[in-house]
Amino acid sequence: MHYLVQHPLLAHKLGMLRNKNTHYKEFRELASEITMLLTYEAMKDVHTREVQIESPLEPTTAQHVDENIVVVPVLRAGVGMLEAMLSLLPEAKIGFIGIYRDHATSQPVTYFEKLPEPTGHALAVIVDPMLATGGSLIRTAEILKEKGFRRIKIIAIISSPEGLSAVEKSHPDVDIYTGSIDRCLNERNYILPGLGDAGNRLFGTE
Ligand code: URA
Repeated sequence: MHYLVQHPLLAHKLGMLRNKNTHYKEFRELASEITMLLTYEAMKDVHTREVQIESPLEPTTAQHVDENIVVVPVLRAGVGMLEAMLSLLPEAKIGFIGIYRDHATSQPVTYFEKLPEPTGHALAVIVDPMLATGGSLIRTAEILKEKGFRRIKIIAIISSPEGLSAVEKSHPDVDIYTGSIDRCLNERNYILPGLGDAGNRLFGTE
């Protein structure tokens, strides 16, 4: 199932992110801010437990997030969303997955994998700014399931309609949160209108 997160402030920031004249420093800041807005929505149903605290005036109860959360950035561009995730989920563990698409076979190839154990009904949150063909996210969710994760969400800043359908078909149990569903993929599998290559724009490479 996918959720299109809609809010005027998010739409404003997405417009700035897409703009080709936005350079990497501002691009990184915007990607972080958008990630926080998407995470806020995606974490709506996390469990909390009641704790006793004392305000300066009297004892009271408060809520504490009571989940084992594992944030999984897909290398390389997912790293651009990590700091924002951790600012909202400071106790999360982090797993990394590196995947590229083999040009000859068009199949996703995993070149790096380091994941924490899925202890205590852990919730894995995969982050990748661009859900394009969906190939790497489908493979990442498979790897997480093979490792024993049963609760998985995906946060993607921009998605293509084709990629969303592909991920939903392969993983109907995985919820996807995205800030935009763009028009389509081009012949090189870039999202249109999209924002170009997210990794290059985040890290200042070409
Ligand atoms: N990855 C990107 O960085 N951009 C796209 O448009 C598609 C995949």
